[in-house]
Amino acid sequence: MKRILIIGATGQIGSELTMALRKQYGGENVVAGHIVGCAPKGELLESGPFEVCDVTDSQMIANIVKKYHIDTIYNLAALLSVVAESKPKLAWKIGIDGLWNVLEVALEHGCAVFTPSSIGSFGPSTPHVMTPQDTIQRPRTMYGVTKVTTELLSDYYFLKYGVDTRSVRFPGVISNVTPPGGGTTDYAVDIYYSAVRGEKFTCPIKQGTLMDMIYMPDALKASIDIMEADPSRLVHRNAFNIASMSFAPETIFENIKKYKPDFEMDYAVEALKQSIADSWPDCLDDTCAREEWDWKPEYDLDRMTQDMLEKLPIRLGLNK
Ligand code: SER
Repeated sequence: MKRILIIGATGQIGSELTMALRKQYGGENVVAGHIVGCAPKGELLESGPFEVCDVTDSQMIANIVKKYHIDTIYNLAALLSVVAESKPKLAWKIGIDGLWNVLEVALEHGCAVFTPSSIGSFGPSTPHVMTPQDTIQRPRTMYGVTKVTTELLSDYYFLKYGVDTRSVRFPGVISNVTPPGGGTTDYAVDIYYSAVRGEKFTCPIKQGTLMDMIYMPDALKASIDIMEADPSRLVHRNAFNIASMSFAPETIFENIKKYKPDFEMDYAVEALKQSIADSWPDCLDDTCAREEWDWKPEYDLDRMTQDMLEKLPIRLGLNK
């Protein structure tokens, strides 16, 4: 049975990944690492151990790894793309100095490591349609710079020291639990909040802007499956393109409108978000993930919309 530490367990992905891992490996085997001021609550608090774990403090990480005999670290600490542009130094400190700490602890204690990359690791010179697994990665955002570095450093620790690093490039992640904060793809989450509250949505991204997105259950499945994959089949490691849906704002709007005919949307394009979105792929080619570890998503846009519109009002305590 794996013994897992999640760094960033109360964040957008961490809060749901922690629960999914606890379901799979047992609550006591999954330690929720969080920063001061972001303590777990409710189910997350009650379902297993938790520790303050600051990714910028290597001793703190090492102490938890030793205390719980950790063999796998999910390193989810990061700033999203828009906020990283306003705090580039902090983005580097958390994303790269933090990763260095995690990899060193992993090397010393024999842990496997998952540190997500993103569609943000691509840039304007990347082929935008069916972006290949191995292609040009020259991002112009600090988020992208940290993600490319994450991929390279993770590969380096595998090739040089044999640390079992593996990961995926997440599309924009959509869920009804913990909202993202400061990302370019956040609009695709926010739009559902407006729809279920009966409010008009103002979209910060312009019509026709395609980006890859993924529904949280598929993002969780990918995070677990890649770490369970047979290593002898892995040609790539850090990090796999994964894809399940790609859409522009008008497409998700029309899809929601199918179930909420009165829903309205207008546009107030935000320049920074738009320039970041324009630099990212329209859609990824995830053939390598499908071939090397049988990646297969379950949700398309319509299935996701139905699930979001059913679950979000319950979570927000709204009457349907
Ligand atoms: N969701 C991220 C962002 O928008 C991209 O991976 O910053």
